[in-house]
Amino acid sequence: MNSTQRDPDSASLSPGTMAGDPMTQFARWMSDAQALALPVPTAMVLATVSAEGRPRARTVLLKEHSQAGFTFYTNRTSRKGQDIADNPRVCAVFPWYPLQRQVTVEGGVTAMSRDGSEPYFSSRPRGSQIGAWASRQSRVIGSRDELTGRVAELERRWPAPASIPMPDFWGGYVLAPDTVEFWQAGRYRLHDRLRYRRHDDAWVIERLSPLCAGPYARALASGESPGPMIPGPNTCRSIPARRHVGQADHA
Ligand SMILES: Cc1cc2nc3c(=O)[nH]c(=O)nc-3n(C[C@H](O)[C@H](O)[C@H](O)COP(=O)(O)O)c2cc1C
Repeated sequence: MNSTQRDPDSASLSPGTMAGDPMTQFARWMSDAQALALPVPTAMVLATVSAEGRPRARTVLLKEHSQAGFTFYTNRTSRKGQDIADNPRVCAVFPWYPLQRQVTVEGGVTAMSRDGSEPYFSSRPRGSQIGAWASRQSRVIGSRDELTGRVAELERRWPAPASIPMPDFWGGYVLAPDTVEFWQAGRYRLHDRLRYRRHDDAWVIERLSPLCAGPYARALASGESPGPMIPGPNTCRSIPARRHVGQADHA
């Protein structure tokens, strides 16, 4: 592997060379992502579903991974915190584009205890600890001044070097996976998709079909060159807004 991208001709994935469990395999791929110095390899897009069935997604940082699962921290009264309280089933995606890899996790989330969450809170910079108190995450606020005013007030309440307690509305969560899919780009969009699925107390590894229908598949079938492995990064179109009928023309 060079310093910027995974070699597209490097070995494809096979169950025989994958670890026996997804967390060990994840640790290998996370090491690759960290070795490649991706901008934020620990960033994962976490999708939750609200009590009304609305899906919502946002980025959080992975802080620990172990056989227990994937750990992240947040405000328990945030939208994601409320969603998890209502429906602990979530999905998380690690989008490691320069590696042409993606890991998708589905499973159930449990809240960590106060004792379990405190060591991480204490390790955070003082400003982040104050921030956790100051921000009523996901609520509408009137202005940025409101937020900075709250920070100033909290700094007066706990002047340095006084230690800042962890708010009881803040803490860690562990996502225990039921399935973990490892996706890696292959030539001609014949990507590898190997999914670990929990079965009783063991993991089974299944290969999922990657190929999409449409022009790409037709090109392959007819023997034409199907183009690059992953479309270029800047190929999305910007379509100008249409003027509504009756809209004044200021051009
Ligand atoms: C790179 C990155 C990392 C983030 N890490 C976290 C995190 O670890 N915990 C967190 O609560 N929010 C994190 N955020 C902010 C969230 O994406 C989100 O705005 C916030 O948690 C509120 O989400 P919610 O309203 O859906 O609950 C991060 C955002 C970015 C862009």
